[in-house]
Amino acid sequence: MNKIAIFASGSGTNAENIIKFFKENKKIEISLIFSNNKNAHVIQRAVNHNIKYHIFSRPDFYDSDKILNILKENKTDFIVLAGFMWLIPEYLIDAYPNKIINIHPALLPKYGGKGMFGMKVHEAVVENRDTESGISIHYVNKEYDKGNIIFQTKCNVLPDDTADDVAKKVHELEYAHFPVVIKNLLNN
Ligand code: GAR
Repeated sequence: MNKIAIFASGSGTNAENIIKFFKENKKIEISLIFSNNKNAHVIQRAVNHNIKYHIFSRPDFYDSDKILNILKENKTDFIVLAGFMWLIPEYLIDAYPNKIINIHPALLPKYGGKGMFGMKVHEAVVENRDTESGISIHYVNKEYDKGNIIFQTKCNVLPDDTADDVAKKVHELEYAHFPVVIKNLLNN
């Protein structure tokens, strides 16, 4: 059994999509949801699916071993960042080498780095009149959005598309591909 913990800061549509995808899978279990935001809708999604969740503060994350202890107690094998906005601390990367992945809503290395997340990315794509965008799934290292890329795929951006239109297209790609990439990485 592979046990996955998902970290999410906001709505959690990707988290829920992943939860649903693996619901009947006997070898992969989404066993924990972590959030830095007590108001994040992802918490309600965790409750709805009967998945344990933990809300943590900045000191919990950066200056304590609380999170690592919970991960170990639950025998977590793999960590998925699905709309998680904080930089992953070094101790976590060292504890889970090549076992933490992130999804980014653009074609990295474009539109990556600190402060580039969610709608900000899509607004930048539209502002720059790009003709394509897409998703990047990558390993997490000590810098924002810099780890090795595992998977990318593109969508068109039309001249009249708004940032919301781009967000919708990118979300569709995320829903279609993220769970499959996770499954393939875990060989199940
Ligand atoms: C997703 O589009 C994800 O790619 C993005 O946040 C959104 C979360 O949506 N992540 C980043 O921007 C990370 N830098 P969701 O909460 O509905 O899954």
